[in-house]
Amino acid sequence: FFEQVQGAPADVIFALTSSYKADSHTQKVNLGVGAYRTEEGKPWVLPIVKKAKHLLVENEELDHEYLPILGLETFRKAAVKLILGYNSKAIAEGRVGAAQCISGTGAVYAGAHFLSKHYPIKGAACYISKPTWANHRAIFEGVGMQVLEYPYWDPATKGLDLKGMLGTMQSAPNGSIFLIHPCAHNPTGVDPTNDQWRQIADVMEAKGHFPFFDCAYQGFASGNLDKDAYSVRYFVDRGFEMFIAQSFSKNFGLYSERAGNLTVVARSVEVKNRIESQIAKAQRAVISNPPAYGSRIVSVVLNNKQYYQEWEQNLSTMANRIIDMRNVLYEELVKLGTPGTWNHIVDQIGMFSFTGLTAPQVKVLKEKYHVYLTDNGRISMAGLNSKNVKYFAQAIDFVVRN
Ligand code: LMR
Repeated sequence: FFEQVQGAPADVIFALTSSYKADSHTQKVNLGVGAYRTEEGKPWVLPIVKKAKHLLVENEELDHEYLPILGLETFRKAAVKLILGYNSKAIAEGRVGAAQCISGTGAVYAGAHFLSKHYPIKGAACYISKPTWANHRAIFEGVGMQVLEYPYWDPATKGLDLKGMLGTMQSAPNGSIFLIHPCAHNPTGVDPTNDQWRQIADVMEAKGHFPFFDCAYQGFASGNLDKDAYSVRYFVDRGFEMFIAQSFSKNFGLYSERAGNLTVVARSVEVKNRIESQIAKAQRAVISNPPAYGSRIVSVVLNNKQYYQEWEQNLSTMANRIIDMRNVLYEELVKLGTPGTWNHIVDQIGMFSFTGLTAPQVKVLKEKYHVYLTDNGRISMAGLNSKNVKYFAQAIDFVVRN
């Protein structure tokens, strides 16, 4: 049956992790996958997650029964409040729906799949930022939608290409779908300012575009959950209908538990109910119902005031360590007098920095220095610590000069 099947290329990000693991060099550094690491370079089980796990055991809330198709009710409600705010008018009006999904990827998929079936403008394209997380294209193309790009990164300023972005939003057919990173843009670490969000919303509103936010880093960018949700809440206040994919992989360190949510902001309670019912129908056919463990942990924390505050402290620990590493890397490069400007490393935000290093330079970093990063020059800041940051700066210095 399958003689004709062609092999598919390996996923670039996960392939980097495998290559890093297989490397026996003592100074190897993994700056590939976006997963938090401690100062010792180890994965971190958040202290609040440990507490929540104990509580679930004590309360005997760890049975293995099926969750409902749309997931754990307490988790969905809390996830929606987390992103839209505890005083959200849209929530009070009952027009916000939710579906627990297989983390952020599953949430983007559930939304994309729904749009591919029910978006009223047939053939509408989904615009993704250039560059973006590689899975965005794969997901939307996977559900049969056309994927186009809007400019985002300006290599000249190593910042946001607002003019290009707004220009494409202007020239796109009315009612196009725009996939937007609300904070900690992956891979660039460049976010619009509040004033730029206003300009983006102005154009999107005038053109009747549909915003689909992919929020994988709430709390992780600035360390402040409300600040990181600014753009989403601003768009809701302006009356947009929208989807928001939420991942709890990064901000809870629950990477393997696949806890995520698709928040649906609709025009009315009735429409919200109908959308949820369609997502439930589709979800049943793909995963039947979502996994319980991660969502139970998240739910315990989000629904307990004291736990919530401790979680905020854990988030600050992660965000601040990353900000420290940005500063140290920047200082090391300045000290070395490495050609070029490096202030973008401290200006960027979140898990990643888009260094501006080229694919040939990345190759040398990998082969000569055993430093692993994606070919587009993205580094996961969390992979740096006080023991390897100097080494990495020296490696950058070498590839830039040679
Ligand atoms: C990343 O971009 O490194 C992470 O979001 C992990 C992934 O799934 O690609």
